Amino acid sequence: MKKLLVFIVAAMTLMAMLLTGCGGGEQKAAEKVLKVGTEPSFAPFEFQKEGSKELTGFDIDLIKAVCKQAGYKAEISSMGFDALIPAIMSGNLDIAVSGMTITEERKKKVTFSDPYYTSGLIIMVNKDNNEIKSIKDLEGKRIAVQIGTTGEAKGRSVKNAKVTAFNNNVEAAMELKNKGVDAVINDAPVAEYYLATGGNATAKLVGEVMEAEEYGFAVKKDSKLAGELNKALNTLKKNGEYDKIYKTWFGEKKK
Ligand code: ARG
Repeated sequence: MKKLLVFIVAAMTLMAMLLTGCGGGEQKAAEKVLKVGTEPSFAPFEFQKEGSKELTGFDIDLIKAVCKQAGYKAEISSMGFDALIPAIMSGNLDIAVSGMTITEERKKKVTFSDPYYTSGLIIMVNKDNNEIKSIKDLEGKRIAVQIGTTGEAKGRSVKNAKVTAFNNNVEAAMELKNKGVDAVINDAPVAEYYLATGGNATAKLVGEVMEAEEYGFAVKKDSKLAGELNKALNTLKKNGEYDKIYKTWFGEKKK
């Protein structure tokens, strides 16, 4: 009787150990979740799948792959572009991925990963506008931009221009279509995507892409997460995964 009891207790202990994973030795630690924030009116980098709330785009695919490579799971949420850096600073977000240009100004507040994409600003006008051909021609004109972006800063640097800053990037393009403004200043790959997906019925790009801007992932200032993300990004660049994601959204890489 006593022997049986000992046996039962031993068996139960063993089962409990198996269930909880204690003493297993090889049990993998639960994947750590990273809170990733983005502003999703920026196709093809981050936007909502048609008819769904799900986010998609180059940034979304890339950050998921980078987090996975670094041993994390990315949990992505949406917010205003101008809310991303404050959320990183307060610790409400671990990473901001949002086609965010690495700037000296922002570097005072957050730490950036290595660059993962080279971009630059461009001017978009209505097709029937033959007056605006460069940034110089925007003087005294009405310009739509997205709030908190490098496009907004560029717009504000134009003499006598009336700049309207929208929370949502799609609304800026809409304002142009409705002739509420004379031009939009936006990141070139986003403007190009807009034209290619129907925008070219009413809008066109003018002038050259302005100075190069590099996108980076933003993390809390001096966080060691930046190093982990860089290492993972580097691996994905070497093993072809980065190229695969790039090709999905932009086609064959221009060399
Ligand atoms: N590259 C520009 C910047 O960093 C615009 C980014 C806007 N991104 C977005 N997801 N809306 O200011």
